[in-house]
Amino acid sequence: MKIAILAGGNRQQATSTLLARYVKKVVEQRSYEVDLIDLHKEPLPFYSPDNGDVPPAVQRLQSTVKGADAVVLSTPEYHGSLSGVLKNALDFLNFEHFDGKLVLVCSSAGGSVGTSSLTQLQTIVRNLHGINSPEWISIGGQQRNFGEDGEPGTEEVKARIQRTVDFFLALAAKVRQH
Ligand SMILES: Cc1cc2nc3c(=O)[nH]c(=O)nc-3n(C[C@H](O)[C@H](O)[C@H](O)COP(=O)(O)O)c2cc1C
Repeated sequence: MKIAILAGGNRQQATSTLLARYVKKVVEQRSYEVDLIDLHKEPLPFYSPDNGDVPPAVQRLQSTVKGADAVVLSTPEYHGSLSGVLKNALDFLNFEHFDGKLVLVCSSAGGSVGTSSLTQLQTIVRNLHGINSPEWISIGGQQRNFGEDGEPGTEEVKARIQRTVDFFLALAAKVRQH
């Protein structure tokens, strides 16, 4: 299985991107192929239906998600919602990229939890005909600390992320069999 990860942070050390990178590491440890698009490092133009041409960054986004068997979306909690850069990226995508694929949503929040962005992301996934994973990942407050090795600062957070990624991969494989 191939997994596509979209990291929706928009700064160098975005904790939602560090979370996405750690999810990538866990997926690779389970011997699955994974491609992560960091929307801060690979910025996209603003989506406009008037704009017919497809620049390389948009082509890469569309082909990566289309070629994946399952998708992970990671966002900072911004005003109780997802980031603008992630929403803009999702506007370039449609049914042909998500149809029949399991999607895991993840968030990082300044407060203790960031579930408002997660429920809003799941609404978007449903409209894209993706299949929402019933388990999601929210880190907040002190849980946003990552070591220089890219690992979460506590064993508890590490174990919680690993458990959710394992659940997601097992369910994604079952969904793909159908
Ligand atoms: C524009 C903006 C809005 C934010 N809104 C919220 C919010 O509604 N709830 C919250 O817990 N944190 C909020 N935060 C804090 C971020 O969730 C926090 O910086 C977190 O680390 C995620 O961002 P990062 O991925 O860039 O690290 C906000 C930050 C910014 C810049």
